[in-house]
Amino acid sequence: MSSDESDDLYFVQIPVGEMANLAYAVGSRSMREVLLVDPAWSVDALLDRAEADGMRVVGALVTHYHQDHVGGSIFGMSIEGLDRLMARQPVPIHVQAREAEGLRRVTGVSASDLVPHEGGDVLELGRVRVRLLHTPGHTPGSQCFLVESGAGPGRLVSGDTLFLNACGRVDLPGGDPEAMFRSLDGVLKKLPDETILFPGHLYSPEPCATMGQQKRTNPYLRAATVEQFLGFVGV
Ligand SMILES: [Fe+2]
Repeated sequence: MSSDESDDLYFVQIPVGEMANLAYAVGSRSMREVLLVDPAWSVDALLDRAEADGMRVVGALVTHYHQDHVGGSIFGMSIEGLDRLMARQPVPIHVQAREAEGLRRVTGVSASDLVPHEGGDVLELGRVRVRLLHTPGHTPGSQCFLVESGAGPGRLVSGDTLFLNACGRVDLPGGDPEAMFRSLDGVLKKLPDETILFPGHLYSPEPCATMGQQKRTNPYLRAATVEQFLGFVGV
């Protein structure tokens, strides 16, 4: 997907790796500064792309600490991730506070590289605001990023919390189905219909969709009660 040309927002969705991950670059054209969301795979290519666009990478945003989003060893694979980013271009790594210890364990980054956040924190680059939404369920410290620039609809970068017509797994260590329901029903479902959902994996034919469309078609968002939701996720 190409960059959005309409305002100060620089926003690029980049398919990466062997597990259908989607990385993102979010920044300000006027400031020429950009944040990388989940730089796990092809880190050099992500940095080169930003550089080619005249953007300086000033930080990393972590949706959650799973290896396919931040790097580390999984399924016999070694994913370069934040380790490679810090070797080539050290930047602050923005992580939800509950995820910081797991992130250090999985990637080997040091505590001094991390900026722990709570839900509601906002990062600003020029006229672009990135609001951090704490959305536990897939992991205890999963977070989504609501990107707004004052022009055009908001964009929700949702990691493994919400996919097009699906949600993240809740049966892995740290997963919590009831917390996932509260995150979807109490946080993400309250976003305006025009908000555009950008997921952490390309598990669907389309790479993005409006939240209005998802509220109509995504069974996990349609669930009205926690009991109904638990029935969908099979617990
Ligand atoms: Fe995950």
